[in-house]
Amino acid sequence: MINVLFVCLGNICRSPAAEGAFKKLLEKEQLEDHFFVDSAGTAGYHDGELADPRTRKVASDRGISLSHISRKFNISDFEKFDYILAMDNANLRELKQLTKKNEHLKKVTLFRLLEEGGGTLEVPDPYYYDISYFEKVQDIVESASLALLESIKLENQFFKGKKNGKEN
Ligand code: 4NP
Repeated sequence: MINVLFVCLGNICRSPAAEGAFKKLLEKEQLEDHFFVDSAGTAGYHDGELADPRTRKVASDRGISLSHISRKFNISDFEKFDYILAMDNANLRELKQLTKKNEHLKKVTLFRLLEEGGGTLEVPDPYYYDISYFEKVQDIVESASLALLESIKLENQFFKGKKNGKEN
């Protein structure tokens, strides 16, 4: 199993959107049995809540049903997950402050780092803006998910000799 965790501030907008987009991509590629995917927030402001209604509406329009319940990032997540993807630089800083261990730190990176085309490396926080920002976030997390999955495939021996997750 490959364990992937998306992290933002509140875990109600960007990281649940990323979780949903990445899971949809895994389903499309029939790889979902090989992954455990989750999301969390560096703050616990919205613990126990569903994703923001705007996040859910935009995802639903693209065929993604979000049932994630918001939770705060836990130190044990550093052990449990192989890839920890921060949505912005503030999230990245917060995560890095929680550990001194190299084996933890090397799992943490910006989600957009692998995307081609340069530009900003952050997924912008849409919380205080209108729904058009949520649409932009959805576009970003979908395209960053493609880049992430390609990178994970390349990095993992696991996928060598397999097609669509099944033995050739
Ligand atoms: P997220 O967005 O980090 O993408 O989930 C936010 C959600 C809630 C708050 C800020 C950002 N808040 O301040 O409550």
